[in-house]
Amino acid sequence: MQSYKICGGKMLSGKIRVEGSKNALLPIIAASILVKDIVELENVTPLEDTYSMIDILRLLNVRVIYDHKSKMIIDSRNLVNKRISSEYTSKLRASYYFMGALLALYKSVKVGKPGGCDFSTRPIDLHLFAFENLGFDVVEEKNFYKFKKEREPKKIIEFSKVSVGATVNAILASVLNKGTTILKNVAMEPEIDDLIDFLNKCGSKIKREDNKIIVEGVYNLFGCKYKIMDDRIEAETYVVIGALLGRNLEIICDCKKYMKEFLLLMNKVGAHVKETSCGVIVNATKEIKEQSLIFNVYPGLPTDIQPVLTILFTKSKGESVFEDNVYPDRFSQVDELVSMGYNLHLVDKKLLIRRNNAYLDSVVSCKDLRGGMSLIVAAILSNKTTCIKNCEYISRGYYDVINKLKRVGAHIEKI
Ligand code: UD1
Repeated sequence: MQSYKICGGKMLSGKIRVEGSKNALLPIIAASILVKDIVELENVTPLEDTYSMIDILRLLNVRVIYDHKSKMIIDSRNLVNKRISSEYTSKLRASYYFMGALLALYKSVKVGKPGGCDFSTRPIDLHLFAFENLGFDVVEEKNFYKFKKEREPKKIIEFSKVSVGATVNAILASVLNKGTTILKNVAMEPEIDDLIDFLNKCGSKIKREDNKIIVEGVYNLFGCKYKIMDDRIEAETYVVIGALLGRNLEIICDCKKYMKEFLLLMNKVGAHVKETSCGVIVNATKEIKEQSLIFNVYPGLPTDIQPVLTILFTKSKGESVFEDNVYPDRFSQVDELVSMGYNLHLVDKKLLIRRNNAYLDSVVSCKDLRGGMSLIVAAILSNKTTCIKNCEYISRGYYDVINKLKRVGAHIEKI
């Protein structure tokens, strides 16, 4: 169990470099088996999920060379269709991208059930709907899904609800199909477009028209060199930290164009965020204007930043209200924040955020990745000492978070 001790209230200055996006990387790693060739990826962040994906690649007889910093070479020329047991897949949610990738290549596939952060119930019915429409029978066993090709794939697949993961899986499973597959009501997250750019660089013919994706099947793909996009959620997290405690805190990133809604909000609430050619410079703001916010699918405000953004609005005079349309129950951090002295109330799936009178010394525990990060942000803002337990959740999505914050002046130590 990883625990951090944080003495908060220190101003932060210097530079923080944002890493490559985990949510873009993981689908691209699974997609790399489709090429049956050599792929070279850059800006690969060495997170636990990255290593769990490598373990699955190796199980499938794929050769992987990774420098543990940035560059990864994936050679899938000797790929084999092996059953991926739940011992591998339960380590992370994104393991389900191997379903889509293997179904593009083989008629019969067996993949263990996915794991991942349990901040809410996370069904995969939309993924299975896509696979069924692409011609597969799906049988659910205790720890597995078994897929068997039984029919010709449908040409048009329309989702009843927008899902990032199901959109990715539908793209992966249809990229090598004969003819054209049209995917309707798909997610518009930029990480999906990173996957599309990668696949198109490998020879696929995929086009997006707003919330419609047109996949013109190709016979085969070839290897390429590709740089993963920067992590917009990590960048937004450090911007929030800067708006609370920054003294010319510079966030270096190349993903501002995907942060429009967030940066507009920062401007609207009075945060001091200045855009530069290589990122943003943030200074602490005394007063943040209260807001009623609804977190939504892209291009809306991302649900992943909701827990962290909560802390910013504790600096408002008036009451702010948050609703999360993507994961309406994603408020697992609230009880812990209340025990730190934060003035938060959950009423009918709405989070009411008020200014708090005093922070408290406390011991709190992470329940999931983004909620866990909100505890760190809350602790570095607080003028008390906070011990945060179960921090392994945080390192699943924020690489080197402790050293990054220490280097800009935060008082954090591992205990
Ligand atoms: C991805 C992101 C995650 C982010 C989320 C929403 C990755 C690895 N993870 O997760 O960080 O929080 O998008 O932006 O990219 N749903 C169903 N049935 C399904 C699938 C989803 O009902 O089969 C529901 C979910 O419960 C949720 C909504 O659809 O309410 C959106 O989920 P989805 O977009 O699929 O999220 P993920 O791809 O799991």
